[in-house]
Amino acid sequence: MTHTQPSAAASTELVRRHAVQGATLMTILHAIQDEIGYVPDTAIAPLAQALSLSRAEVHGVITYYHHFRSAPPARVTVQLCRAEACRSMGTEALKEHIEGRTGCRFDSGHAEDTELESVFCLGQCALSPALMINGELHARVSPAKFDRLYAAAQTKVAEVTA
Ligand code: FES
Repeated sequence: MTHTQPSAAASTELVRRHAVQGATLMTILHAIQDEIGYVPDTAIAPLAQALSLSRAEVHGVITYYHHFRSAPPARVTVQLCRAEACRSMGTEALKEHIEGRTGCRFDSGHAEDTELESVFCLGQCALSPALMINGELHARVSPAKFDRLYAAAQTKVAEVTA
């Protein structure tokens, strides 16, 4: 999915706000991602300059840590538990259903407005299969229940951004 990056000037300002004295690259990256949801490519040069690092070093850290995103997050994120207890209760069949319903694939970035992520145990083993949609936990999720939850999440996002 393509997205618009902040301008070089906007990213320089973003970095300037967070590159306070004593801040490390990691703390600045976290602060930027907390603020705008990802670390734009246009922030790499000002980060390198602020910390006297090479652009390659900054880029290397961003890509090394799975936590950091280089693009805005999807509007609907589904995190499906694929650990033991959930597997025994049909998570893999649910995974197939979710991919078919959303048109996206697990763990391969996001397409359109949805991202699918595998996670391993959400602490709901007795109520499996479990998943989270935009940070909200749901247990004993059947395909039909997923369809309702997903439609509700899409509607909620549409209302918030309308
Ligand atoms: S194994 Fe899925 S919630 Fe624990």
